[in-house]
Amino acid sequence: GRCVVAVDGPSGSGKSTVSRRLAVGIGARYLDTGAMYRAITWAVLRSGVDRADAGSVAKVADEVDLRIGTDPQGYGVTVDGVGVDADIRGPEVTGAVSAVAAVPAVRKLLVARQREMIVNAGRIVVEGRDIGSVVAPDADLKVYLTASAAARAARRSAEDASDVTATAADLARRDRLDSTRKIDPLAQAADAVVLDTTELGIDEVVARLRDLLTE
Ligand code: CDP
Repeated sequence: GRCVVAVDGPSGSGKSTVSRRLAVGIGARYLDTGAMYRAITWAVLRSGVDRADAGSVAKVADEVDLRIGTDPQGYGVTVDGVGVDADIRGPEVTGAVSAVAAVPAVRKLLVARQREMIVNAGRIVVEGRDIGSVVAPDADLKVYLTASAAARAARRSAEDASDVTATAADLARRDRLDSTRKIDPLAQAADAVVLDTTELGIDEVVARLRDLLTE
């Protein structure tokens, strides 16, 4: 039946791995909303518009054809027909995404698309920064994953073979921008289950979430 799980938290908290595995385990679709903000950012950088100009950024977001799959075992992201899965994880996009995601018109557009995809899927795990609070406040389960800053930086640099000190600085910078922006800031929903994953393995977190779903 219908089941919407909202997974929020900062970078490196384990959101993506946990969300994908949970989706496979419960036979649900999976939506990576961060990939949508990253794809719009990729389009903004490609377009050459001034990325500090909210009006131009919003126009690009409005005009591009952004598509994202919801198969937890292999979802693809395209912008105007171009596959961007690898590029959207690169340093240029990572450096600009928090600013693009702070533009109200961009959020309005993507939140509407996300809600539509959630309704169509019916059974879906959605990960991001504002899912339990804004995108799907009626979710059946809301989870907020955290981990120490050191654990998050270590995980992320292991994933992409980046320098751990530089990664820690980048995560701290994005956390600050994401949690202090004026619109839909990263925040725990009041009714979210908070899980600190610093000392927990992926399987333990997934098992805990499955328990919460059957309770
Ligand atoms: O994977 P990682 O945690 O590094 O980031 P992500 O989930 O791909 O999200 C990239 C950026 O998109 C975040 O730093 C936020 O600025 C923005 N974002 C957002 O504003 N709202 C969301 N629901 C998801 C991501």
